[in-house]
Amino acid sequence: MADTESNGAGGDGAGGEFPADLLVELDRSRPRGLRAQLERGLRQAIARGSLPPGTALPPSRVLAAELDVSRSLVVGAYEQLVIEGYLEARQGSGTRVRAHGVGGDWTDGGPGQGSAPVGQGRTGRDGGLRRSGLPDPSLFPRSEWLRHYRDVLREVPDDRLLYPAARGEPELRAALAAYLGRVRGVRTTPEQIVICGGFSQAVMLLSRALGQRGVTRIAVEDPCFSLHRRIIRSAGLEPVPVPVDDQGLQTARLATLDVGAVLLAPAHSYPSGVVLSADRRVQVLEWARTAGALVIEDDYDAELRYDRLPVGALQGLDPDHVIYGGTVSKVLSPVLRLGWIVAPPRLADDFLRAKFLEDFATEGLGQLTLARFIDSGALARHLRRVRPIYRARRDALLAALRTHLPAVRPSGEAAGLHLLLRLPAGLDPAMVSAVAAEHGIQLEEAARYWADRETAPPALLIGYGMQRESALVRGIEALGEDLLQAARLHGRVLSRGRLISLIPEPWPELGSHDPLVVHPGRLGGGEPGDRRPHDLRFQQVPQPGRDLGGHHACAGRAAGQQHVHGDRRVAQVGGHDPGQ
Ligand SMILES: Cc1ncc(COP(=O)(O)O)c(C=O)c1O
Repeated sequence: MADTESNGAGGDGAGGEFPADLLVELDRSRPRGLRAQLERGLRQAIARGSLPPGTALPPSRVLAAELDVSRSLVVGAYEQLVIEGYLEARQGSGTRVRAHGVGGDWTDGGPGQGSAPVGQGRTGRDGGLRRSGLPDPSLFPRSEWLRHYRDVLREVPDDRLLYPAARGEPELRAALAAYLGRVRGVRTTPEQIVICGGFSQAVMLLSRALGQRGVTRIAVEDPCFSLHRRIIRSAGLEPVPVPVDDQGLQTARLATLDVGAVLLAPAHSYPSGVVLSADRRVQVLEWARTAGALVIEDDYDAELRYDRLPVGALQGLDPDHVIYGGTVSKVLSPVLRLGWIVAPPRLADDFLRAKFLEDFATEGLGQLTLARFIDSGALARHLRRVRPIYRARRDALLAALRTHLPAVRPSGEAAGLHLLLRLPAGLDPAMVSAVAAEHGIQLEEAARYWADRETAPPALLIGYGMQRESALVRGIEALGEDLLQAARLHGRVLSRGRLISLIPEPWPELGSHDPLVVHPGRLGGGEPGDRRPHDLRFQQVPQPGRDLGGHHACAGRAAGQQHVHGDRRVAQVGGHDPGQ
């Protein structure tokens, strides 16, 4: 933990960046711990923008004195929020609100499409911390990267400090050709590789290159990474969604569609996490050969495997019909904006032309650094270090889900940095996500990844890459508790105090401005295996000005509006909702 005492803010309420009037209310009568309340108050202030990025927090001793709590409580809360990515702590400059939210929510609206600035989610609710699938930036191999970067700068001749090669620096293309052949079974020479600004740029440039060859439609997975659909459309082509089932993209449909290419992630489809089955791998290649079409392989997180041997790249089976694409965004960091394609020679040249017209070339020093990083074995070492860390986070998350949210069905756990969580029918993803945010768990509504949101099942995405095990377990446990209480209010099926399922119809719209008193009827947990609906009766108690109807009742509970004491009665606790 950095020295929080060095913050010049807030100590005497003067001259600091921390707003002197910021309300962080601690309700000592509430059962949830004071530290959790402080964490929640700070999260909400950051999400609402009352604590903008870069704001220095008061030294822990000062805030502790102001709130009349122990200093260790404040230190603990700061540390937790650093882990969660809301705050950053640097030796000598104290603890601050993270300067940039982790990623922006650009997957849908995108910049200039009505989305919030980077670092602020469109709703402002989660501070823009869309984490599904991001690597942990605190695991970035800073010193090793720096060492190679320094070596590059020291050794690179002056004449290479001009425009980099449009195709990409030869050292990196040579390093990648060897590495991809070894690790992913890709068949290539350095000449067939073109370096670009992440795989997303590859999708843009490929769409343009294919468009110039007369391709007007590209098949995409449904669901898929929605940004790719938008990129294809913005290049003037039509993305044609093809459903993904438990064996991957339904390849048999391709022959019925008039498409010139298909974009898919065979090793780990996003966001479902499905691996393309062996039969379909063969089928998609047969289709490409017969139709004279191309397969664009998105191999975005191939090296992050946990339970099984990696599936080799499709490209290795048919290099003439597959354009292979990769990125460092998952294995290292998206901050580098480094990706590549491996393409049949003529297409590589078309791609190169599009790349040159787009931005001349990708930044060169990072390329040279990555080349050394790969050749020296540092990338392999980095992967050996982070894989067990991510696997432990995934295991903790899966165990917590099994224990506290057994009605939720996770998928895609064999690889990557995220899980897709299918919810029981009737449970509103937006509501669950809002409740989870109160407990420091970022859940992203998955519907955006379906071509037609209306056809999306109720599902959420959770990225576990950036959360420590303890935070994941605590957050899922608290979410489970809140949903359990909500189920006791509005749902019925309970067993031994755990949520087994929720009612299959939408949550009852109680349509009242009044709080509820629950007469528990036979509520009480039931016997093991007892899944009969419990008989709950609701009674409205007039109290004007309060909206606890439907979803809000649960979200409000999480925000401290109401509290359920055991199974017996609902009591009003806490005076106001700080989120309002
Ligand atoms: C399915 C998929 N492909 C590729 C990428 C990587 O894109 P880029 O290399 O542009 O960061 C992502 C990033 O989230 C992704 O989800």
